[in-house]
Amino acid sequence: MCLRDERVLLGVSGGIAAYKAAELVRRLRDAGAQVRVVMTDGAKRFITPLTLQALSGNPVRDSLWDEGAEAAMGHIELARWATRVLVAPATADTLARLAHGHADDLLSTLVLATAAPVAVAPAMNQQMWAHPATQANVALLRGRGVQVFGPGAGDQACGEVGPGRLLEPDELVSALASQVRASAMLAGVRVLITAGPTFEDIDPVRFIGNRSSGKMGFAVAAAAAAMGAEVSLIAGPVALPTPVGVARINVRSAAQMLAAVMDALPGQDIYIGAAAVADYTPACVADKKIKKTAADMAVALDRTTDILATVTAATPRPFVVGFAAETHDLEHYARDKLQRKGLDLIAANQVGCAGGGFEADCNTLQVFWADGERTLGPDSKAVVAQQLLALVAERRAMANA
Ligand code: PMT
Repeated sequence: MCLRDERVLLGVSGGIAAYKAAELVRRLRDAGAQVRVVMTDGAKRFITPLTLQALSGNPVRDSLWDEGAEAAMGHIELARWATRVLVAPATADTLARLAHGHADDLLSTLVLATAAPVAVAPAMNQQMWAHPATQANVALLRGRGVQVFGPGAGDQACGEVGPGRLLEPDELVSALASQVRASAMLAGVRVLITAGPTFEDIDPVRFIGNRSSGKMGFAVAAAAAAMGAEVSLIAGPVALPTPVGVARINVRSAAQMLAAVMDALPGQDIYIGAAAVADYTPACVADKKIKKTAADMAVALDRTTDILATVTAATPRPFVVGFAAETHDLEHYARDKLQRKGLDLIAANQVGCAGGGFEADCNTLQVFWADGERTLGPDSKAVVAQQLLALVAERRAMANA
């Protein structure tokens, strides 16, 4: 595990697992990282700054109001110094504060002020971890590209059993080392991604849409940016924040998505079609609200242009990844699309059932290519997206070899 060129800013917040920070600092240094520690007031109730200072070989910072350190804007200097920020343990309160952009103590301010990738390692009672408020905060952080290491499951200090244990120091160092390897995986690579649904207008008040929330495509965009790619995201109508470091173009209809994709396509290395693009659009759009006069009505529909097929037909063409959303015969339909649309890779997911696909926070992807396949998940869309991007980088490297 190599962290040789890394400068790790370790944020320690106040839970019983803070005692593990001592071992973590040692393991980080063993892996070659330089380490500086920032503690919250709560953390100091569980472990002393002196311990972490001795182990890290650097003074520990614990206050935004340290006159000596702040004479030269110490918090900004520290935020710039870090190549990685790891908050371990991250308590429920710290996750909430980071998710909502607080900046009233040193740790939360540093997380706002740094350009370095941020990872959090949650540690708390299993009930607190499962609480919808905590899960919503974690989803917010993930959506912004923050990596979440763990938590592990098992016996807890409070006597309960379940998920909420801080990962062991070795596991955290290994997760950080994987993050370092991943961040170079797509360095300088240009990735164009579509996400979300398209809305096809019938009249000024009605449209044909679908259940895509955009979560999967946005997770792919966040993961690609975290891996060093230059990411353009063409998003259908969804209410999701733009992942850090991603250039976003909003569209509404399949025709607008096609135009935006073709406009952005020149120079792209990878195209990933995660959007649920309408296959049909009303043949004509009424300019006034259609009145309820007839007993029944039919809307004539035209086929939309297949964006994926148009991208694969372009010269030169990028490495093309399609998605397949199927309610049945997943592999059969996915393989058919892989071949018919001339794709390099297809990620198929089951839709129309609980636990994945549309709108869910988790997913399972069955990925197929000409002579192989792999299953990713079940896991959060953020984790599945990272795994998909790692596979895409691997397959693309082989295709270019
Ligand atoms: O957004 P979420 O709520 O997180 O849900 C995620 C998801 C289920 C939408 C996503 O994981 C997914 O499967 N996206 C593709 C949905 C889809 O339209 O599948 P399809 O099997 O109908 O289309 C196959 C492929 O052709 C897709 O890559 C699609 O982007 C592409 N396509 C389809 C029609 C069209 N006119 N142009 C296209 O490029």
